Amino acid sequence: MTLAMTGEARAQAATGPVKVGFMLPYTGTYASLGNMIEAGFKLYVQEQGGKLGGREIQYFKVDDESEPAKATDNVNKLIKRDQVDVLVGTVHSGVALGMAKAAKESNTLLIIPNAGADAITGPLCSPNIVRSSFSNWQPGYSTGVVVAQKGHKRAMTITWNYAAGSETVKGFTEAFEKGGGKVVKDLNLPFPNVEFQALLTEIAAQKPDAVFAFFAGGGAVKFVKDYAAAGLNKTIPLYGSGFLTDGTLEAQGAAAQGLQTTLHYADNLDTPRNNAFRKSFALAYKANADVYAVQGYDAAQILAAGLNAVKGDLSKREALTTAMHKTTVDSPRGKFTLSAAGNPVQDMYLREAKGPNNEFKSIAVKALADPARGCKL
Ligand code: PHB
Repeated sequence: MTLAMTGEARAQAATGPVKVGFMLPYTGTYASLGNMIEAGFKLYVQEQGGKLGGREIQYFKVDDESEPAKATDNVNKLIKRDQVDVLVGTVHSGVALGMAKAAKESNTLLIIPNAGADAITGPLCSPNIVRSSFSNWQPGYSTGVVVAQKGHKRAMTITWNYAAGSETVKGFTEAFEKGGGKVVKDLNLPFPNVEFQALLTEIAAQKPDAVFAFFAGGGAVKFVKDYAAAGLNKTIPLYGSGFLTDGTLEAQGAAAQGLQTTLHYADNLDTPRNNAFRKSFALAYKANADVYAVQGYDAAQILAAGLNAVKGDLSKREALTTAMHKTTVDSPRGKFTLSAAGNPVQDMYLREAKGPNNEFKSIAVKALADPARGCKL
């Protein structure tokens, strides 16, 4: 069925504000991630004088609480009640899967500024959905490459038992075992629990050569501190996708210093683009940017590419989504493009936690593209 636009709707499509609906966690273990994404997005819009493609931007927001069971109701507040033009969200993969289904069914534009659920740029891929962040497979895979290169042979993994955890571990295992290692045991606990003690005891008993962890936000702070408090940081090197130490270093204190992780961003990338971004962010918010702020900023850049191409006329849907997919994003992380499935093709960096920064050490994998398994466009 094609929906005919009324004259009024057509006029609305080219004038008045573009309605952007943030669906993000503003409470719970991922609250700071949601806030950083919103801050980054709004910073880019402010830098453009408050307009994209010649149109003012009007914001709506819903706290999704990182609660998959509420995802459909929450996203419909933005789609049906607020009638937003563009959805921006979210952090949690399980919630994002619900958003992607609703966006597909209603043909609403969706820009995902974090959640890595592989299926979104796999079997659920769609022209109206793009991601400014990563697929879960990507940082798992790049960390597996590095941990194998370091010569570690037996690894254990530990994470929350949901899509982000299991898919990141899968990516890690794929690369680590291709590089000659073996994952001897996967440990997990329900999201967002932080009772790590029994699992840390098991790691101490098994004595692997290395541990790979996916945790983020408040849970990552607690995990890194507990790992050190158990004395494991002295005997078994801990690695993670970079979320383990991103936006968390201040709260983790000494426990995180020296930790090596891989991610598509490093705080101290010494490029004019990153330096300008960090300065602008610090001035606007009196806080240091992190990877989530970058992903929010780049979500706005992708929307701008689409709106600029159609001069703000949302009724030119195909030209808009094509421009969004074809753009080269001049990101603080470095320039990147989007795959056919709408996921960033990007360099993955090895970083080391030093003081308040995740410092660049080397490129772990150049221009890493998600395999987009199951995506048919
Ligand atoms: C996810 O659920 O996809 C997720 C959450 C937090 C992160 C990364 C991925 O830092």
